[in-house]
Amino acid sequence: MDEHEQIILDVWRDNAAPWTHAVRTHAIASRRLVTDRVILDTVLAQHPRHAIDLGCGEGWLTRALSAEGIDTLGIDAILSLVESARTAGGGRFIAMDYAEVSNGALHERADVVVCNFALLGGTSVDTLLRAVPALLEPGGALVVQTLHPFSACGDAPYVDGWREGSWQGCGEGFGKAAPWYFRTMQGWIGTLKQAGLRLADMLEPPLPGTGRPASLVLIARVC
Ligand SMILES: C[S@@+](CC[C@H](N)C(=O)[O-])C[C@H]1O[C@@H](n2cnc3c(N)ncnc32)[C@H](O)[C@@H]1O
Repeated sequence: MDEHEQIILDVWRDNAAPWTHAVRTHAIASRRLVTDRVILDTVLAQHPRHAIDLGCGEGWLTRALSAEGIDTLGIDAILSLVESARTAGGGRFIAMDYAEVSNGALHERADVVVCNFALLGGTSVDTLLRAVPALLEPGGALVVQTLHPFSACGDAPYVDGWREGSWQGCGEGFGKAAPWYFRTMQGWIGTLKQAGLRLADMLEPPLPGTGRPASLVLIARVC
């Protein structure tokens, strides 16, 4: 495994507790103000009966979809996050990393596969997305919410590549941050395409008072 990809998993393992606290106390302003509602509404607009929440973290989205009557499976590599999710209840949860999903270990199909700020790596994400068509029912959709390349690029060159991470805006108690793989808009569409997926729609929800998008939401279907 690429060194960056391993660090991502190590960092999430080390920071599972402060992350759970941050999500459950609604400490992250952009989530509270915009992105939680956006991802929920986007998934609900697909009218799924079954959903898979890849990189579910402590499980808030799986719980929210389950509360809407959608049979939802949350998957995350970090056992302590999955255990927190199970303890909170609502939805089904399994501990599995993207490499296992990519290798066909997940025997489940859904009308929506959703990844909410959970596609952080490079080749791990390219490989995971290639497994998504086999997880989707006919006519199903992949829904991805991620950092908007325009807002996240900063002063660095506008090219795909590894960037240093930060816990800024997430609250207290975090250790070292994980690297993440920046993708341009062309990069995202290209990685969908190599996975046999085509972009069907996208959203750029504004972050109030900033004149900037709070996130990028991609809705993709099997080609
Ligand atoms: C920013 S959190 C988002 C969590 C959740 N989707 C949410 O909206 O709160 C990213 C999640 O992706 C998970 N993740 C990252 N890389 C992963 C991998 N290779 N396999 C499985 N989960 C992974 C992390 O463990 C973490 O829970």
